[in-house]
Amino acid sequence: MKFRFSGLLFLPIATLLLGGTLLSVSPPTDASPAVSDTVDTKPLRLLMVGLAQDMSRINTGLWHEDYDLIRQGARSIANHPKIPPNQIAKIKKTLGQEFQNFVRFDKVVHGTASELVTAAEARNWSGVLEKYTQIRDGCVGCHTAYRDQLQHVLGK
Ligand code: HEC
Repeated sequence: MKFRFSGLLFLPIATLLLGGTLLSVSPPTDASPAVSDTVDTKPLRLLMVGLAQDMSRINTGLWHEDYDLIRQGARSIANHPKIPPNQIAKIKKTLGQEFQNFVRFDKVVHGTASELVTAAEARNWSGVLEKYTQIRDGCVGCHTAYRDQLQHVLGK
């Protein structure tokens, strides 16, 4: 399981079968051996702090043209912990039908991070830049759409 909120609730098998790509706008990625799932959970806000650190690492990699740093940051995003079930329940309740779209944002970020790992490993500079931009747009897209609503219900 990756960062799949719905999977934690009641669709674990369906989610596993569908993989991370059906609802995502990015094309399917080859499963990268560099990217494995984690079983950790973390409160969403802390998890986000970690994602921001990963993005910083990728940024530093971009300025120094350091593919290894980019790969590390991207892999960490792709492997990020899941949010705990009680928070998932709150998110689902708050967003209602929009929940699927929330999940979609997550899947895009997740899938694109895997693609960024691949691009960095291939030392494909334009691919790296493209994937980086897509990840950033995914982060900000979800924030713009849902952050205000969720901030209130998730509690600190
Ligand atoms: C699926 C939706 C979603 C995606 C994708 C997402 N975020 Fe977030 N993010 C949130 C929500 C919701 C909050 C507000 C959490 C809260 O305040 O409890 C948040 C908050 C944050 C915060 C503020 C944390 C704090 O200390 O208050 C940072 C930083 C952050 N996100 C970074 C990122 C980065 C970087 C990415 C992409 C790699 C990303 N997020 C992708 C939903 C998302």
